[in-house]
Formats: sequence, C-alpha cells, structure tokens
Amino acid sequence: MTTPKRYLITSALPYANGLKHVGHLAGAYFPADIYVRYLRAQKRDVVFVCGSDEHGTAIPIQATKEGTTPQAIIDKYHTAMKEDFADLNISFDIYDRTSNPLHHETAQEFFKNLNDRGELEIKESEQFYDEAAKTFLADRYIKGTCPNCNSDRAFGDQCENCGRTLSPDELINPVSALSGNTPVKKKTSHWYLPLGKHEAFLREWILKEHAADWRSTVVGQCKSWIEGGLQSRAVTRDLDWGIKVPVQGADGKVLYVWFDAPIGYISATKQWALNTGKDWKPYWYDGDTKLVHFIGKDNIVFHCIIFPVMLKLHGNILPTNVPANEFLNLEGDKMSTGRNWKLDMRDYINNFVKQENGGGQCVDMLRYYLTQIAPETKDSEFMWKGFQDAVNSELVSIFGNFVNRTWVLMHKLCGGKVPKLHEDILDDRDKALVTQIQNSKVKIESLLEEYKFRDALFEVIDLSRAGNKYMQEKEPWIVAKSLATNPNAQKVIDNCMHLCLQLTANLAILINPFLPNTAAQMLHMMKVVDKMLDWENAGKIKLLSVGYSLREPQLLFRKIEDAEITAQVEKLKTGLVKPVETKMEENKKIETSNNSSLGDGGKPEIVFDDFAKIDLKVGTITAAEKVEKADKLLKLSVDLGFETRTIVSGIALHYQPENIIGKQVVVVVNLAPRKMRGIESNGMILMAEDASGKLHFVSPETAINTGSGVS
Ligand code: 2FM
Ligand code: ZN
Repeated sequence: MTTPKRYLITSALPYANGLKHVGHLAGAYFPADIYVRYLRAQKRDVVFVCGSDEHGTAIPIQATKEGTTPQAIIDKYHTAMKEDFADLNISFDIYDRTSNPLHHETAQEFFKNLNDRGELEIKESEQFYDEAAKTFLADRYIKGTCPNCNSDRAFGDQCENCGRTLSPDELINPVSALSGNTPVKKKTSHWYLPLGKHEAFLREWILKEHAADWRSTVVGQCKSWIEGGLQSRAVTRDLDWGIKVPVQGADGKVLYVWFDAPIGYISATKQWALNTGKDWKPYWYDGDTKLVHFIGKDNIVFHCIIFPVMLKLHGNILPTNVPANEFLNLEGDKMSTGRNWKLDMRDYINNFVKQENGGGQCVDMLRYYLTQIAPETKDSEFMWKGFQDAVNSELVSIFGNFVNRTWVLMHKLCGGKVPKLHEDILDDRDKALVTQIQNSKVKIESLLEEYKFRDALFEVIDLSRAGNKYMQEKEPWIVAKSLATNPNAQKVIDNCMHLCLQLTANLAILINPFLPNTAAQMLHMMKVVDKMLDWENAGKIKLLSVGYSLREPQLLFRKIEDAEITAQVEKLKTGLVKPVETKMEENKKIETSNNSSLGDGGKPEIVFDDFAKIDLKVGTITAAEKVEKADKLLKLSVDLGFETRTIVSGIALHYQPENIIGKQVVVVVNLAPRKMRGIESNGMILMAEDASGKLHFVSPETAINTGSGVS
C-alpha cells in the first residue's frame, strides 16, 4: 500500500432543519472522526470538512412548522449542530455552511462550467403549479391520498403512513399544501445531468476498479442503480430558497439541493484554506489525494454515482472510498423524528455529558458503544441495556480495570515510579505479551486502513484483556509476599509492572482515535505529552522511562447504573408520538378498501382468511412503455397465463422499459381496476423498496410457468 500525499475526509453535511440523532453520529461522524484522528497520529496531511446543508425544501417546510423564516431556521440549527458536534469531540478542521457566499459562488461556477461545456441538458416538462400562490410546487408541497395505503397523509415524495416513495403524479386527489387548492399542470424547463451518458465510466470505475475495496453494500447499491438504467437527473428546481441558477432566463429557479450540497465539501475546503493560509486546490485536483466520504446508506447514490459524474466532468479527483454505513435502530424500532422515537445527540449531551464534571468520560462512553455496534455491514441496534453492558462490562471491567490495577500496584509495589526491565529474567510469558503488543498494533492499523472500526476497537479492548490475563497469571501481589525470602521477587515484580506500564502507554496510543478523552486522561496519569500518541510509537515497549514518577491513579470510566438506563427507556416510551386515532382511521380505510396492499409495517394484524383473499400470480412482462407526462409511470402488458393485462406501475425512475421485457414478476390479480393518467390499470406488481428508495421486482428465483400461484 502506498501512502497518498494528502487526505481529504468528509462527513455528510447534515440538513439544518432539526437536531441530529445518534444514528447520524454512528453513520457519518464518529467513524470519520476515528479515521481522521488515526491519520493525524500517523502525521499524514489530512483535512476533515463538514458543514450544514441549508438548502432544499426541508428548510422552508421546517420554517412553516415553526412559524418562522428559513433564515432563522438555518441559523438556529446550524449553531445547534455545530455545538453538538463540538461537545462530542468531532474534530472537524472546518464546520462550514452552505449559506456561505463562498459556497454560492463555488456551486454557481460549477454549474456554469458544466453548462457552458454542454454537459447538461435542458428539458421541458409539466409540473404541478399553484395558481393562487403563483408558484410551482416542490414534491413535498403536494398532499393527497396514497395510492398504496389510501392514507390521506401522503405527500408528493413519500407517504407518511406507509413510507412508500411516491411521485406527485401518483397521488390521488392532489392538493397544494400552500393554498389547499387543486394544482394545475404547467410547463417549465429544467437542467438535467444526463447520467446515462456516463454509464460506461461508472461501470468501469465502481463495478470493476472498486468492486473489491469498497464495501459490498455500497457496490451492491450502485450496481442496482446502474443495472436499473441511469436516468437524467434534474439539477434545478422552481423554488425561491436556494442558490440561484446562474444563467439568463432562469428566474425563479435554484440549484437542486443535491447538486449544491456535495459541492459544499469543496467550498468548505476553500474556506478552511482561507482561514489557515493554505492552498485548497491540491485537495480537489491532485491525483495523489485520497478523498473519502463518510455517509449513511441513504446517501450512497449521490456520493457514488451523481457527485462523481459531476466531479469528473468538472475535472476534479474522484473519491477513493465511500465507506457508507447502514442504519441504526433504537430499542427495537426504526428511529423516527415524526414519532419522536430517537435519541438526539443533544439529549445525550444534556443527560450525560453535561451532568459530569468535564464531560469527557460520557463522550467516550458513547463513542465506544456506537463504534462497538457500528452498522458497518448491516443495520444494528442501539439498546440502552447494551450501552450499559458495553460500559460496565468492557470499558470499566476490562480496559479501565487493567489501567487502574496497573497504577495501584505500581504505586504500592514500585514506589510510584517506572521500574526497571530485567532482561536476564524475562520469561516466555513476558515475551509473549511484548509480541502481542506489537502484533496488535499491526492488526489495528490494517483494520483502520480498511475502515473496519468496529473490529479495530475490538482488538484494542482485546489487548487490554490480555493485559489483565497477564497480570492475573503473574500475580505480583502474591510475589510481593516472598520479597524477604526470594532474591528474584522484586525483579519479577518490576518486570511485570514495567510491561504493564508500557502496555498502558500503548493502549493510550491505540485507543486515542476512538476515545480521545480517555487517551488524554491516560497521558495525564503518565505525565507525558501529546507527542507520545504518535502512531509510530505504538508497538514499542520503551515509551515510559525507567525511574520516571507517575501520578496517582484516576478512574477512567464510571459505571452506568440500572436507574439511569431505565429512566432513558421510560423517557423514550413516554415521549413517543403515536398518532393513535389517525392510525385507527387508516386501518379502517385499509380494511374497507379494495386496494388491499397489506403487510406493510404499522398495519393491523390480519387473519389468514384475509390474506387468502389476495390472488397473487407470477406474470411475465411482455411490453413496457413510458406514460406520457408522468415521469414515474410505466404502462406494462403482463402475461398472466390465462390473459394479458395492462398494469400501470410507478417504476419508471427505476427501470428502463426495454430492460424489463421478459421479466417475471408477482402480480396482485384481483385488485379492483383503477385509472391512472387515463389508463385503466388491472392489477398491481409487487415491488420491494430498499433504504435508498429504489424499487426492486419481487421475482421467482428461477423462471417458472407464467400464471403460477404465489402464496
Ligand atoms: O441526507 C442528508 O442529511 C443530506 N443533507 C446530506 C448531504 S451530504 C453532501 F452531499 F452534502
Ligand atoms: Zn401510503
């Protein structure tokens, strides 16, 4: 592995529309911070950037909710998020914001550059328009009835009840959220990024070059986007909140938030360079820079497909890796702001960090637990009991215990000073410990280089576990009883304590990227300076000089009491916003509706007879075409064995018509017909939706007879 000249590390820019929860921390912030602290300890040239994402409809929507202006919203949440990250010791080199004029300039230059070189397309389409409010309506500003579950809590982008991703065209009885009127369709032009043109590049770059070194979950998601057919993506919007489109005749249009936000990484780097007198350009133009984006899995398509295409067209470097994390659930349920089922960073800060003198221990406890359960390969679960166990049984009982025992015994048996190492009587057990320290360093380093933070942390704890075992086997407190009779006793004690002290110094270096407060406290106890934490010192056993006197022990971690976690669980449960009445109404609607798409989360229990009413059959798609003026709909002919049906399906953003001919799918055959865009749809195709909102066919494993029953 060759070491690149410099690193640019980014964490996803969080929307400035609310406080962020621990799921965000585990996904994009703690892992990035661990990696950056490790790189800094390696003395690599590294810049860590982040900032608030202050555009998009999320901001004006929050302003309406809070009865204030978008500007007040971004100011409030930018400040709050910046403070929370600082309280949790995330060591950004800069935490910028996309309302920074430098960012507006940078994003506009980027857009102009692509547009001037003919890399964008302009297309006309019909969009919903509110005649009373005299404005085009963003998807989120259109409300209506969900075609999937019949709830009237559906928006033009998603149904709040069943979670299905929607397009405004799919809504039944759409109304404007601004005026309550039925919107009309009006022509408008937008700039599009033609992703399809870059398919060959994306295939080569992701599916070949990075097939082995990127996480399989990331490559898998990219593959499914590429195979599903890459559509042109609109990069402008008719909105009055955002960055103005910098060309003539684009009045009332702004850059799409997902166009400007990732450019925020570039403008943050520029702002950092201005603040520090450095040059930002090599970080975005020199091929010897390693660019790594830390994100959650819902951001994969933007960071692995769309932004890289933009970067390539603009002449920038591409990310070397995008170690996206899966999701973190909480106490057995998905985190949700709507239902208030979440643990905000701020709540943890107020309930734990701020309650403690200094706050460092509690920050590190959270850093520890969230890394231990990091959703690196699959979704994982934050359980308060798990948090308590991790702290009490690992941090306190293993790591903290080893350091504390070492300090107490060193003061008791060696006069508070680092004893000598008597090479002449070193035994196999001593030598094995030294080897283990050296091996652990190598292992932890390679795990960190591969973004396997969870495993790397396990190795650190395992090394402290080995320290406890070593001390238990050496029993210096027993040896001390024979000091009067055994001439070698003091030497044996010295060797044991010397090695335990050197191991402690190593543990400080190795734990530092994960738990920086703990490492700092260990430095204090050892009376040494930060420099000792340089990574090159790990694996050495001459870190503390013989005869050097050390401070009194301090407990590194405190126990978490049962009452503390019970209170948290209770708080979570009582704070849960359950739309009980609405849910019951929805359930009634579902029961009486013909459109019985059952089995989604949050729906009522049904008996088998209910399920048996649904006639499911395997069909084969024999023809497919786009539905005019409906971006998301395809008109399909589906052979069911006994007849061929016309079915309108909302899959146009996920599949190209020509790619799905011959595909076997599962069809709800006895669904009452429904008109969509004037076409009668006779049945429904079952689709699975992944976390990024992409739809996948539910198909038999291998081809079977068309018309086969499904049960
Ligand atoms: O999902 C989100 O919270 C987005 N605001 C992330 C943006 S990341 C980057 F592209 F800026
Ligand atoms: Zn729904």
